[in-house]
Amino acid sequence: MHRLPLPLFLVLVLLLPAAAPLRLPHASAASPDICIVGAGISGASTAFFLTNYTTSLAGPQLRIFERRHGVGGRLGTVSIAGDRFEAGGSIIHPRNLHARRFADLLGLAASTGGDDDWLGIWDGKTFVFQTLRPPPPGSSWWRRKLHGLLNSLLLFRRYGMSLLKMDRFVQEMLQRFMLFYNALESRPVFSTVEEMLKWTGLYRLTRRTLEEELRDAGLNSQTIAELVTVITRINYGQSTRISGLAGAVSLAGAESGLWAVEGGNWQLPAGLLKTSNATLHLQEGIDSIADAGDHYVLTSNTGNEYSCMVTVVATPLDEVNITFSPPISIPPRKMQHTHATFIRGLLNHGYFGLNSASDIPDLIGTLELPDIPFSCISVLKRYSEDDMTYKMFSRAKLDDGLLDQIFSTRKETIRINWAAYPHYEAPEEFAPILLDGKQLYYVNTFESAASAIETGAVAAENVARLIISRLALQQRGVEPHAPHIKTVAEEVGSGRRHVDL
Ligand SMILES: Cc1cc2nc3c(=O)[nH]c(=O)nc-3n(C[C@H](O)[C@H](O)[C@H](O)COP(=O)(O)OP(=O)(O)OC[C@H]3O[C@@H](n4cnc5c(N)ncnc54)[C@H](O)[C@@H]3O)c2cc1C
Ligand SMILES: *[C@@H]1O[C@H](CO)[C@@H](O)[C@H](O)[C@H]1NC(C)=O
Ligand SMILES: *[C@@H]1O[C@H](CO)[C@@H](O)[C@H](O)[C@H]1NC(C)=O
Ligand SMILES: *[C@@H]1O[C@H](CO)[C@@H](O)[C@H](O)[C@H]1NC(C)=O
Repeated sequence: MHRLPLPLFLVLVLLLPAAAPLRLPHASAASPDICIVGAGISGASTAFFLTNYTTSLAGPQLRIFERRHGVGGRLGTVSIAGDRFEAGGSIIHPRNLHARRFADLLGLAASTGGDDDWLGIWDGKTFVFQTLRPPPPGSSWWRRKLHGLLNSLLLFRRYGMSLLKMDRFVQEMLQRFMLFYNALESRPVFSTVEEMLKWTGLYRLTRRTLEEELRDAGLNSQTIAELVTVITRINYGQSTRISGLAGAVSLAGAESGLWAVEGGNWQLPAGLLKTSNATLHLQEGIDSIADAGDHYVLTSNTGNEYSCMVTVVATPLDEVNITFSPPISIPPRKMQHTHATFIRGLLNHGYFGLNSASDIPDLIGTLELPDIPFSCISVLKRYSEDDMTYKMFSRAKLDDGLLDQIFSTRKETIRINWAAYPHYEAPEEFAPILLDGKQLYYVNTFESAASAIETGAVAAENVARLIISRLALQQRGVEPHAPHIKTVAEEVGSGRRHVDL
């Protein structure tokens, strides 16, 4: 895939007129507000980067609307038996640098799980593969090392060189993804998702299925049908027919060194919103966004109207009812629903054809077979040998009758139905970032590439830069339509912050 040759890009930047400090016109009709719809990680990151990359943008000028009573969106915890667990987005990759920096900036601690999960792969009748039961807690360093080593050998015996090929595939994707962290001077502002992906060389991965990509990478069928399938079912609730980039991201989510924010990942968006001094409108859903010439009128479900110079949609538009006038047109996209079910009790060893519950692996992954009613089951906490808290993911609701077969005891059950991530279908089609070619932006179009906490932040950072550069152009009287203008570097470069909103 071609990347923009760097020297050409630098020439473009040098040809641009020097940036004058940006002052926005105080049009009488339009308030200078920037309005963001959705207080998940995408909306909060947009607010953060807008303030971080400009001077004096704060307070009442930045409004965030959230229809729920709290922030976080698909990041949130559930409380069961007095303990809190992640219910939505739960793991963060060590090379997700925005999330890393956010946590540092906000003073949030990271918690890392053990890397020695006891994995069993279930085909509906038996466990076709299992890693070794981990040594008891408090075991010596060498016993844990030995356990890790033996597990590697077991995996290698079953999947062979495919493991290395899978790793190479993931590392190559990660290396390209890391280009999104390049210094601002050497990274264009993108006005479409296609441009973002082509610049990093990731675009072709969205054109074909993960399965096709992995076959080309030399993985054997057994590895794809078992290990890879288990991972895509856990991370995206879908089969290996998801598109290649989403697939690679989901495989990266099975690497070691994963972490989460202690006390809940929702604190990332909450903290970012606080730092950016944005005005947060909780329990205020936006029903309509109307173009009023030099501003937008947002109408909320509480009957309020807001004038916004810039409007950012930071939620997937696939399952929400926002009326746009004039109407916008985006490619159809379905969301994959994941039912997260939290259960305190004990799994039924009989259901798994075992003699004792203590023989059931801590993480049960599943193959892509029609009769298996769940994607995965994992132990979240062990209170005693017959009292645990589990998390299950499934594509459909698990009713009580079924749960009573899978569990021998069940003291508490909590069900959450998430519109979790896009249902991936290669070749992916991307909605525009600039929904109307003016000042209406869409962050969550990027989810069609891959949906994750970090991809939300990456997409948001680009949208913030795009807003800043287009406002600067507008202020200089340049028509902000030109989709390929890659200004940027001088506007927001290297700590020099010019924009005065
Ligand atoms: C079960 C599950 C497991 C996951 N696991 C992981 C993981 O391990 N690691 C990872 O990185 N990612 C994971 N993800 C994905 C990750 O959680 C999401 O990609 C990310 O949180 C999306 O953030 P967002 O801000 O883009 O969207 P959202 O979090 O959905 O935020 C959108 C917000 O907009 C609000 N909203 C919608 N419509 C309106 C309206 N009209 N007016 C006002 N507000 C509105 C919504 O209430 C919501 O709060 C998982 C997701 C799920 C569901
Ligand atoms: C901008 O973000 C950096 C961290 O990425 C932080 O150190 C700095 O304090 C932030 N500045 C503002 C004004 O928010
Ligand atoms: C937010 O408000 C605080 C207190 O008024 C101020 O110190 C800080 O600089 C503001 N941050 C931004 C990003 O404007
Ligand atoms: C959107 O509106 C349709 C029809 O009015 C309704 O059936 C649906 O439940 C609404 N969806 C949401 C998420 O509010």
